[in-house]
Amino acid sequence: MQGCARGQLDMEGALTARDRVGIQDFVLLDAHTSETAFLDNLKKRFSENLIYTYIGTLLVSVNPYKELDIYSKKQMDIYMGVNFFELPPHIFALADNAYHTMLAEANNHFILISGESGAGKTEASKKILQYYAVSCPSTTLLDNVRDRMLLSNPVLEAFGNSKTLKNDNSSRFGKYMDIQFDIQGDAVGGHILGYLLEKSRVVHQNHGERNFHIFYQLVKGGEEDLLHQLGLESNCQHYSYLVQGECANVASINDKNDWKTVRNALSVIDFDERDIQDLLGVIASVLHLGNVQFEPDSKGYATLNNSAELLWVSTLLGVNVQVLQEGLTSRKIEAKTDEVLSPFTVDHAIYARDALAKAIYGRTFTWLVNKINDSMENKDSSRKTVIGLLDIYGFEVFYVNSFEQFCINYCNEKLQQLFIQLTLKSEQEEYEAENIGWEPVQFFNNKIICDLVEEKHRGIISVLDEECLRPGEATDLTFLERLEEKLDSHPHFVTHKLADKKTRKTLERGNFRLLHYAGEVTYCVVGFLSKNNDLLYRNIKDVMRQSKNTIVRECFASKESDGRRRPETVASQFKSSLLGLTDILMSKEPWYVRCLKSNESQQPGQFDDVLVRHQVKYLGLMEHLRVRRAGFAYRCRYDVFLQRYKPLCPATWPYWRGVAAEGVEVLVQHLGYLPDEYKMGRTKIFIRHPRTLFATEDAFEVCKHDLASRIQAQYKAYWQKGQFRRQKEAATKIETCWRGVQARKAKGRRQWAVKVIKKFIKGYMARGEAKTTDNSEYLAFVRQNYLNRLKDNLPKMVLDKTSWLTPPPVLMETSEILRQLHMRLMVRKYIRGITAQQKAQLQLKGITSVIFKGKKDSYPQSVSQPYVDTRISEQDINMKVLQMIRHEGIKYSIPIVKYDRNGFKARPRQLILTQTAAYVVDDAKIKQRVLYTTLKGVSVSTLSDGIIIFHIPSEDDKQKGDLIMQCDHLFEALTKLSVVANKQSAINVVQGSVKFQMKAGKEGIVEFSSGQESMVYKDKNGHLMVVSTRTRAR
Ligand SMILES: Nc1ncnc2c1ncn2[C@@H]1O[C@H](COP(=O)(O)OP(=O)(O)O)[C@@H](O)[C@H]1O
Ligand SMILES: [Mg+2]
Repeated sequence: MQGCARGQLDMEGALTARDRVGIQDFVLLDAHTSETAFLDNLKKRFSENLIYTYIGTLLVSVNPYKELDIYSKKQMDIYMGVNFFELPPHIFALADNAYHTMLAEANNHFILISGESGAGKTEASKKILQYYAVSCPSTTLLDNVRDRMLLSNPVLEAFGNSKTLKNDNSSRFGKYMDIQFDIQGDAVGGHILGYLLEKSRVVHQNHGERNFHIFYQLVKGGEEDLLHQLGLESNCQHYSYLVQGECANVASINDKNDWKTVRNALSVIDFDERDIQDLLGVIASVLHLGNVQFEPDSKGYATLNNSAELLWVSTLLGVNVQVLQEGLTSRKIEAKTDEVLSPFTVDHAIYARDALAKAIYGRTFTWLVNKINDSMENKDSSRKTVIGLLDIYGFEVFYVNSFEQFCINYCNEKLQQLFIQLTLKSEQEEYEAENIGWEPVQFFNNKIICDLVEEKHRGIISVLDEECLRPGEATDLTFLERLEEKLDSHPHFVTHKLADKKTRKTLERGNFRLLHYAGEVTYCVVGFLSKNNDLLYRNIKDVMRQSKNTIVRECFASKESDGRRRPETVASQFKSSLLGLTDILMSKEPWYVRCLKSNESQQPGQFDDVLVRHQVKYLGLMEHLRVRRAGFAYRCRYDVFLQRYKPLCPATWPYWRGVAAEGVEVLVQHLGYLPDEYKMGRTKIFIRHPRTLFATEDAFEVCKHDLASRIQAQYKAYWQKGQFRRQKEAATKIETCWRGVQARKAKGRRQWAVKVIKKFIKGYMARGEAKTTDNSEYLAFVRQNYLNRLKDNLPKMVLDKTSWLTPPPVLMETSEILRQLHMRLMVRKYIRGITAQQKAQLQLKGITSVIFKGKKDSYPQSVSQPYVDTRISEQDINMKVLQMIRHEGIKYSIPIVKYDRNGFKARPRQLILTQTAAYVVDDAKIKQRVLYTTLKGVSVSTLSDGIIIFHIPSEDDKQKGDLIMQCDHLFEALTKLSVVANKQSAINVVQGSVKFQMKAGKEGIVEFSSGQESMVYKDKNGHLMVVSTRTRAR
């Protein structure tokens, strides 16, 4: 049975219940009777965005008022088919568990979602539906059903939800939806039961509240054409039914977008264009109706003052405008055989108008639910199981509470009663089934309040109905008096009159107060009678029955108006529908979601301790926990328990080969459980305290690690060995292959080398022949080789004529061309590098060469000796001499030795060449001035001496005869002279001897010879003998 599955889940819950934030399952709370500990746990989890916590299989949900990323497809996948307690608490876990239990046990279930208004019930039910839509197996055919189920939601919310002070999307009707599954678990159909729509909202809204969403959606989102067709304007302020709460626009609601969703959904759930047109016609007609105003005529009766709006109503509903007007301003009274029209006062007319609006809307809503049911209906008759989702309006307390709150809160009392019965029942049943003694639990049973409301003859509903039905002047106040009479000593009922002094101050006269299980609520009796009666005059019903609008016609076509009997009152209808619901639920297995509001102001992240504590209290969560903990905190099927913990005992590990219960007994004995700590049921072990299980679980954790590491080690070793072997094999294989590759490469290289060498030898042998295939490569090699070598060994100097590499025969010609090119290049480079000074020097050397080359022995040695500008600087010339000759421009000076003409005595002198003359100077004296014009010739010998002889004409008296000098820089001095005096042609190189003029008419001879030692002396024959050392060659 289901109980067994639960037990197993509880056990596993323990596994994940710790270690996270707080405790995931209150059953595991050690201080399970402490409300503070309970709240602390909720709060701790809430602060970490963990909004779900279990009490066993009951899910507590705290509204976070913010989007949490826990409802994605991924999340759904995580929860799909996983055991309830293996994952953190979640609405999906509950949905999944209900589903799988349903499949396993093939029975019906329901999920009761409760909590006060705004606590998150509707959201929870949507999440569950989405979960089934995604997780159940499906076919395309079923997708259709599924889409309709999902899309019925926005439509029903549009028509049945509205903004209240508690919730911007408050459900103003109760909804029970069966989801039908076939035996494979496919969702194959659905069915919705609607409960008591709060119709009064159509005509009246409190401040800060709105009418039903659909009105705003249509007015704000409707396309221009559509609005035009319906006679509407795109402005909510225009409609008196929309503006009473003064909040047509709400930040959290996007009416335009919602309109699109609803419009699209309508098409999906089988509404054809006609239906949609009729439906919107109804909505629009209600809006127009709200704008119909009355004025009193002279007799005080109501007349219409705005026929345009009425005209729209009549058009949209397809009724005769006259008849409609009549229906709104008068009623038919049957007097015996006649029918008489009784006109209304203005107030009465307004009442009739609002009654009509409420009736049309209310009935249309019922029609809508039926229509949706048609579209979701599964028509085949195969066996199905269902999961029912109950999302009904939550317990509600406003500043002023009226008939609607009375009904809503009564409904919540009923559900609480159901909850108590079912929980206690199931818990007790389990104990009985397991043969374990039941210890009764103290809890508040709200049956007394249910009775207060619904008991026949005494209950509030009975009194109300009596007041409504009795003849005579019944009013809301007479109803209150009746209540006071009947219930004067009821502990949960108080009025001003019945209250003690203190309480009386808090109660006004027209109010009564009920002490609900969830708290005190003071109801204002005003309107109770009329709302309960929900009267609509017959003539207006008749009008509606003739409507051309199909929906309206269908809605009013029931037989109710035919009978003369008064229709059932609203409260009675509601009461019986709740009884019906209780029956439906009692026949199914329950699952609970308890929704809590975290704060009153719908703020994310705020946790109002007082508010939550209050809800925990009245929702009976502590009691539920106590029931779950009565006696034993855990229970677990023997086989499951044994399977999990068998490693903890040598006798049960690795296998227990007997009955599971006995194995468990052996196991817990081994673990040292005390007799008081556990009980053995028929199929389960019951453990009294959480700590016992925790200790076992801790031991299991340790043991699990041990086991795991042993298995791991073994496996690792095995794996490593295999790995090593595989690696070794692979290495050998690679090595072999690599060696082969290497060998093949080497062989290739050898073959190639042999070929090259062969070719080389052949080429060498044929190197002299014309180019053939045999020698072409060799010759190319030779060429390249030579050119490469040549490149590195080019001569560096112009004069280097020997180091040019000898070319191979094939390159003779090329080499010669290259050599010449290179030479030219060097010459060019050399010439480019020559300075002006060097150039002048070279020119001088050139002149020297013309005069002396091949003629005088000492010439070759002189070539390399550079010429200088002068050998005596001007400072070294005597000032007097300078003064005398400077104006002529001194060009060159050199020290010389002058030989006297007679005795050939040698005297050191300076020879100074000016622009016009050569001077022989002895310190401050000019010894001789030789004008170039008078210089007849200059003689030098062919040998290597330095003797220079100036021949000067003897006719010139002033002259002392020819000048004989010895100069160390003969070539330099004579070259300078030849340039300055232009005497190149006058210089003679003479062999042997030369004559010279001593003085006019007397001649001397200079004889030149070469010998061991150079010397100059006067010979006995009177000649001047000049001996110079011999040089190798001229
Ligand atoms: N699980 C949730 N996650 C985030 N916000 C939520 C959740 N449940 C409820 N709410 C918020 O609270 C508002 C009221 O929830 P709703 O289900 O309509 O309350 P109820 O049906 O109980 O009156 C929602 O409109 C939404 O803003
Ligand atoms: Mg709701």
